[in-house]
Amino acid sequence: MIENLHSMRIDYSGKDLIKKKFKKNPIKQFNLWFQEAVKFKIKEPNAMILSTIKKKNKPTSRTVLLKEVDNKGFIFFTNYNSNKGVEIKNNKNVSLNFLWKNMERQIIIEGITKRISEISSINYFNKRPRDSQISAWVSDQSKKIKNKTVLENQYKKMVKKFEKIEIIPKPTCWGGYIVLPNKIEFWQGKKSRLHDRICYKLINKDWKKFRLSP
Ligand SMILES: Cc1cc2nc3c(=O)[nH]c(=O)nc-3n(C[C@H](O)[C@H](O)[C@H](O)COP(=O)(O)O)c2cc1C
Repeated sequence: MIENLHSMRIDYSGKDLIKKKFKKNPIKQFNLWFQEAVKFKIKEPNAMILSTIKKKNKPTSRTVLLKEVDNKGFIFFTNYNSNKGVEIKNNKNVSLNFLWKNMERQIIIEGITKRISEISSINYFNKRPRDSQISAWVSDQSKKIKNKTVLENQYKKMVKKFEKIEIIPKPTCWGGYIVLPNKIEFWQGKKSRLHDRICYKLINKDWKKFRLSP
């Protein structure tokens, strides 16, 4: 039994969000907030909750790391055969959520997911630490395993396999997705629960900006 959940709350005290001052393009606004999060020393500001849709329209979520942002969208890397990979194959609609608790900020992104090019995935894979590259070969992500030893033995086997190989190739089942946004919301916690929400929606290829009630 967890005690005191009813009384567990803090009052937020963020600065006003002024719609007029928000950039025309929400990805540019995201970049600005991200820089502020880095400056604020948020731990792993690039950690984001990725929600996908399973069969029978059941939603599910997990954390992934944002690894690139360009003027089109938000890129993360994973195993294409993982649960999330299969879910994205069946339904390209996803949502991303950044919670920067110490700044009392949240960003919610909705969009359509696409695989990035094989060459872009290879470029990023080559920059990863060697042990992460080996893990990408070892992990049959989201599949049941008998026990931990199976995984550790597989890792040792792979270390040996690649011992004399300088550049470890990227497994074909591993790579990046880009989330092409069609809606982005910036949330700032405020006093008395009168939070600020500035939302952008892509309408006829144009970003429209509006304020939402908390
Ligand atoms: C902080 C953090 C960062 C993570 N980053 C990634 C990532 O970038 N890519 C990834 O595939 N899994 C990442 N994971 C693991 C995922 O949350 C998840 O366990 C894994 O991808 C399997 O998800 P699935 O079975 O729903 O496909 C991360 C987990 C945490 C807690």
